[in-house]
Amino acid sequence: MTAQLNARGDVAVLVPAAGAGVRLGPGGPKALRLLAGEPLLVHAIRRVAAAASVRMIVVAAPAAEVEAVRELLAPVAPVTVVAGGAERQESVSLALAAVPAEIEVVLVHDAARALTPPQLIESVAAAVRQGHPAVIPVLPVVDTIKEVGPGDTVLGTVDRSVLRSVQTPQGFRHDVLTEVHASADDALTDDAGLVEKAGLPVTCVPGSELALKITRPLDLVLAEALLHVR
Ligand code: C5P
Repeated sequence: MTAQLNARGDVAVLVPAAGAGVRLGPGGPKALRLLAGEPLLVHAIRRVAAAASVRMIVVAAPAAEVEAVRELLAPVAPVTVVAGGAERQESVSLALAAVPAEIEVVLVHDAARALTPPQLIESVAAAVRQGHPAVIPVLPVVDTIKEVGPGDTVLGTVDRSVLRSVQTPQGFRHDVLTEVHASADDALTDDAGLVEKAGLPVTCVPGSELALKITRPLDLVLAEALLHVR
């Protein structure tokens, strides 16, 4: 059944999925890798659509796959699919261009974080709404982290109490994301990094273990188990 989005919501969620070599079907790139018989992108969009204040979802797909991705997602939720660009950052900019000005909160989300709970999407959006220009969900770093030099020799131990692992969705005030994208001169993998470079504060909120990035074979096993538990 196709989910309904909240016509009065104030949040747009952008999902860049236009990486080179993207194709539908098994064995393809991670956004379309199958988890319990469905592409990660489908799982991710289903959870985004379940977040109460989401009014619009924009997926950037490879130009040749726009129609196929539209068909894939049509039964899941009302999604706007645009052609992405040469770099991830350009794909985000092109998706952002589809968002009307009256939407005040824009989230950028990774399809590989397919089990991200709707509550995390809401808590990031809420922090932006409270006045933070940029918000990232984070988890503490649990391993001891070493800095290593030539010859695999340990140079030192990093104080992990000041480190955080960053997840998505990353949330922004619409005007802030538009501004930093318009003036970005070099490509970053992280939109919050653009805000940092612009000298604006980036605020952390607690992330979720369920928002793990499903990239390695072991992550897929864990994700399948999590789906069955829930
Ligand atoms: O290739 P990489 O791992 O950096 O891609 C990160 C995300 O950005 C992926 O979801 C990929 O599909 C997306 N991407 C994009 N447009 C590009 C390159 C990457 O939307 N031109």
